[in-house]
Order: sequence, then C-alpha cells, then structure tokens
Amino acid sequence: MSDAIAIRCLTTMGEREIQELSDVLIDCVEGGASVSFMLPMTRTKAEAFWRGVAASVARGERVVVAAEDETGAIIGTAQIILDQPENQPHRGDLAKMLVHRRARRRGIGALLLAAAERRALEAGKTLLVLDTASDDAERLYARGGWQRCGVIPDYALLPDGQPCATTYYFKFLRKDGASG
Ligand SMILES: CC(C)(COP(=O)(O)OP(=O)(O)OC[C@H]1O[C@@H](n2cnc3c(N)ncnc32)[C@H](O)[C@@H]1OP(=O)(O)O)[C@@H](O)C(=O)NCCC(=O)NCCS
Repeated sequence: MSDAIAIRCLTTMGEREIQELSDVLIDCVEGGASVSFMLPMTRTKAEAFWRGVAASVARGERVVVAAEDETGAIIGTAQIILDQPENQPHRGDLAKMLVHRRARRRGIGALLLAAAERRALEAGKTLLVLDTASDDAERLYARGGWQRCGVIPDYALLPDGQPCATTYYFKFLRKDGASG
C-alpha cells in the first residue's frame, strides 16, 4: 500500500469532486462493473448521479468516503446509506465501492471499506448490508469479515446487457474494530 494514498470523508462535494468521482464511475462501468449503469456510460449520467449523491450527503442521508492519490485526485470511493426505514435505525447499506482500474490491487478497496465502516459506526450504525456482482469485491468483503448470505440469480444486468446474479453480505460493527 502506498503511503501517499489519503482517505477523506467528503462532507461537501464541489465541482472537482463531482468530476473526479465521475471519472471513477465511468471507468468502473466501462470496465464491466454492475453498479446500476448500462453502456454507453456517459459523463452526463455520471455527473447527474454524483450531483444527486452530493445533495443526499448535504441532507445527512449518506456518507461518502474517497481515496486520493499523491496528486490529490480521487481514485476510489465508497458510501454508507444512513437513511433507512424507521424500524431499521441501526442499519446502513454499503454502496458504490469503486476503485479506478489504474489504482486497483494496492489495498485502496480495503482502506475504503475500513473507513466506510468506521464512519457508519460513528453515525450509530451497528449492522451493514451490501450486495455485489463482483468476484473481486466478494474477496474484499470476505477479508473484511463480512458474512455471505446467498445469491439471487438474474438480479441485474451487466453494463453490456448480460444478466448477472448478486450476492448479499452483512457485517455487525463493533467499537473495538473486531468482526461481529
Ligand atoms: C472491488 C474493488 C473495489 C476492489 O478494489 P481494490 O482497490 O483493487 O481492492 P484491494 O487492493 O484492497 O484488494 C484487491 C486485491 O489486491 C490485493 N492487494 C492489496 N494490496 C496489494 C499490494 N500492495 N500488492 C499486491 N496486491 C495487493 C488484495 O489482496 C486483493 O487480492 P485478491 O483480489 O486476489 O483477493 C475494485 O475491483 C472495483 O472497483 N471493482 C469494480 C467496481 C465494483 O464492482 N465494485 C463492487 C461493487 S459492490
């Protein structure tokens, strides 16, 4: 892991952040990640998504963490969706775990996951849930102590239109950092 990587919680998201997060999202979708978007992955779609996220952050509905490289550019991100039904105040969803292809396999995903979990705990969450269609992400979550629940076939489409399954995971959070 490079010492030059900084993990930051984006409490406000300006134009620079929107553009750099869009770069990351576009790269991931073009790389085949099933993260809500289909090809062609346009900048218009990416910017609209991140502007919506920025508004949601401003309303306190979610937390966004970002990994920045030595130049300060965002190369990865993850989110915790805090806003849940009133009968699930202790739960959050981990979403949009994205690392630019040029920055993968350096431990940035693991740093983002740990930072997102810390922020969730600080926000009072003790249970996190996610689903993923990525084998790379499944190994990341398993290493992070997440529990695999099961697979739903044909849950979504890959960016090129092929159907894909999704796998659900959960993790109980503990203040001492141990897996619950
Ligand atoms: C899933 C994803 C976020 C992982 O990000 P990442 O930054 O590559 O994650 P890490 O570097 O922490 O771990 C990836 C691998 O690199 C390895 N690694 C970590 N640091 C390393 C280092 N310094 N040198 C060599 N390998 C290293 C890890 O052991 C891991 O190995 P494995 O895949 O064989 O298990 C990334 O692949 C991605 O963005 N995918 C597309 C989007 C997506 O599908 N996201 C999931 C949505 S739920």
